[in-house]
Amino acid sequence: MIADLDIVLRDARNSLRQKGVLKTLRLALPYLRSHVDRLRESTRGARWTKMDRKDAFDSRYGTETSGLVDLEDMGVSEEARSHSSDYKPTLPRVFHRVISEMRIRHEDFVFIDYGSGKGRILLLASDYPFRRIVGVELSPALHEIAGRNVAIYRSRRQRCREIELKVGDAGELEPPRDAHLVCYFYYPFDEELLGRVLAKISAAVEGGKRQAWLLLINPPKPEVIEAAGIFELVAATRRPARVDRWLNWRIYKTKGTTG
Ligand SMILES: C[S@@+](CC[C@H](N)C(=O)[O-])C[C@H]1O[C@@H](n2cnc3c(N)ncnc32)[C@H](O)[C@@H]1O
Repeated sequence: MIADLDIVLRDARNSLRQKGVLKTLRLALPYLRSHVDRLRESTRGARWTKMDRKDAFDSRYGTETSGLVDLEDMGVSEEARSHSSDYKPTLPRVFHRVISEMRIRHEDFVFIDYGSGKGRILLLASDYPFRRIVGVELSPALHEIAGRNVAIYRSRRQRCREIELKVGDAGELEPPRDAHLVCYFYYPFDEELLGRVLAKISAAVEGGKRQAWLLLINPPKPEVIEAAGIFELVAATRRPARVDRWLNWRIYKTKGTTG
């Protein structure tokens, strides 16, 4: 590396002498670009490696929910991927923080994780006495892993054992109409698809008798939720982080419903 640097500096000095500053810079540009790219790749690689390690949640429960997964490697078509984000699990402390904001009788609610991935959120939600928990996941491979995790998870705190896993596009899911809803989104897809999902949720609670709560981690622009016309903001991260956006959250609920 040092030897490489010596050669580069010597060549640069020679070039400056013979060709001048402008020409040297023009010649050096592709070289510098490739180095910046390599540096970027290696830092991204380091971050991914760190995320791929079993984290504290998996070490504790023997599950497999950690890691970042590229949907390209998970048998998801290019068209579907164009609307979707890759797999990355929510941090448990963020989930518990958000869910503790809701003063509800969990038994009256069905919890839905839109884009449930390896199922971590379904497991964390099962520590609360929800009537039922539903996860919908686009990738069949992640759906399968989630099934294994649900079978493995054992916790003294678990209060709900009715966990239903669905594989398919969240945009096609008809939310249940027999209970209030808690709908969880950890930035699973783009705003266009989110708009379609919100329309289905709105239709499911139409008539104002049932509530729908939206828990949004790394939330979209407020206008996207406001466009649905039926939700009001309940709570949000006090000081949203610009870089660590997965720590930011917002909670909405259907206007005019009590709870
Ligand atoms: C950021 S991960 C969140 C995983 C999990 N909900 C959590 O919080 O730990 C987003 C997930 O959404 C899934 N996803 C993306 N588009 C989807 C779609 N159209 N329908 C269902 N799932 C989708 C991805 O495969 C991925 O598993």
